[in-house]
Amino acid sequence: MYHCVYHLLGIPQHTLNMAGSPVATVVPPLAQSVQEMSMNGNEPPPQYFLKENSIQPMDSFLPSDLIPIIDISLLSSSSSLSSKGGEEELQKLKSTLTSWGCFQAVGHGLSSSFLDKVREVGKQFFALPVEEKEKYSRATDGIEGYGNDPILSENQVLDWSYRLFLRLQPVDQRKLRLWPENPTEFREVLDEYGTKVKIIMDVLFKAMAKSLNLEENSFSSQFGERAVMQARFNFYLSCPRPDLVLGVKPHSDRSGITVLLQDKEVEGLQVFKDDKWFRVPVIPHALVVNLGDQMQIMSNGIFKSPIHRVVTNSERMRISVAMFNEPEPEKEIGPMEGLIDEKRPRLYRDVKNYASFNFECFQKGVVPLESAKI
Ligand code: OGA
Ligand code: NI
Repeated sequence: MYHCVYHLLGIPQHTLNMAGSPVATVVPPLAQSVQEMSMNGNEPPPQYFLKENSIQPMDSFLPSDLIPIIDISLLSSSSSLSSKGGEEELQKLKSTLTSWGCFQAVGHGLSSSFLDKVREVGKQFFALPVEEKEKYSRATDGIEGYGNDPILSENQVLDWSYRLFLRLQPVDQRKLRLWPENPTEFREVLDEYGTKVKIIMDVLFKAMAKSLNLEENSFSSQFGERAVMQARFNFYLSCPRPDLVLGVKPHSDRSGITVLLQDKEVEGLQVFKDDKWFRVPVIPHALVVNLGDQMQIMSNGIFKSPIHRVVTNSERMRISVAMFNEPEPEKEIGPMEGLIDEKRPRLYRDVKNYASFNFECFQKGVVPLESAKI
C-alpha cells in the first residue's frame, strides 16, 4: 500500500553510482542565497523546482474530514483516563494515529504567552544580520546549527528554508556554542520549552501504550535513559514561485514523536492521506503532534508516520519549531511483542541508530521504512 506513496519522497536514486555504492558529492553553494532571492523577489533557479511528476503545491485540500483535535488533559492522569471523556479521547487518539498519524493537541498546559515567546525568540534570531546568524552555522559535515539543508547531489530539489537545529538531550551533549546568545533569552526559553515538551511526550507515550492495551511504559522503555531530543527552528521566507517551490519536500520524520509549534498566522504544513494533500490549519494555541518512523516500527505498523510537506507563499514569512525525540542510538528498537500475532505478523526487524540508518538509506536511494521491513 505504501509503495504508491513513497514515490513522493523523491529519494535521490542518482546518488547511486554504477556499482550501487553511495557517493556523497558535495555540490558548491548556489550563487544567491534564499534570503537574497526572497528579499529581491528574484526567480529561484531550477534546483528549487519540483520535478514534473510532483504534485503542485496548489492542489491541496482543506478537508471536511479535518485532522482531529485532541484534548490531552483528558489523557494525562489515570483518573482522567478512567473518566468517560478520557476513555473517548483515548479511542480518538488511537483512531487518529492509525489513520492520519497526526493530530492537533490542545489542553497541553502550555500558556499561549509562552508559546508566543518560543516563536518570538526564533523570529528574533532569524531577523539578525546574516553575519551574526552565521556565527552559529552548521559545519559542512555536521547536522547541528544554522543553515540550509546539506546539498549532497546536483539533482537534489532544494528546500526554500533555513533551519536552526539543536540537540537538547542528553543535556551533556548540548553544543552550547551553536545556541544563539541573541536574543538574550533564547537559551533559557528553549531549555524551558524542551522540558515542557518532554512532559507532553511522556504523557503521549503512556496514552498510546494504553490505547493499544499495552503496559504503560512499553514505548518509553524502548527509548532508554539517554533518549535524544532535538529542536529544529524552521524559517520559510516568502517565495516568488509558490507554484513550483516547496518549503520542505515530502518526507516522514525519522523520530519517535514530533511536536510542532506552527506559526501563529501563516499556514503551510500539509499531510498526505488517501492520495491527497490536506492542509493543517493554524490553531494558535495548539501543538501539532505527528509520529515518526520509529513509532511506526515499534507499533508494528499500527500507528502511522505520515508523509508531510510545507508549501511556500509569496507574501509572508513563516516560522515553525519542531521538537523530535528518538531512542538512545545504541538501543535496539522493534515491534512490541504484544502487537504481533497471527493476524498481524511482525512487519519490521529490530533496528538501532535509526538516524544513521535513515541517512544511509537515502544515500542508497531506498525508503528507510521499506528497508526496515522483514
Ligand atoms: C519538520 C517539518 C513542518 C513545518 O521540521 O520535519 O515537517 O511546518 N516541519 O515546518
Ligand atoms: Ni517533518
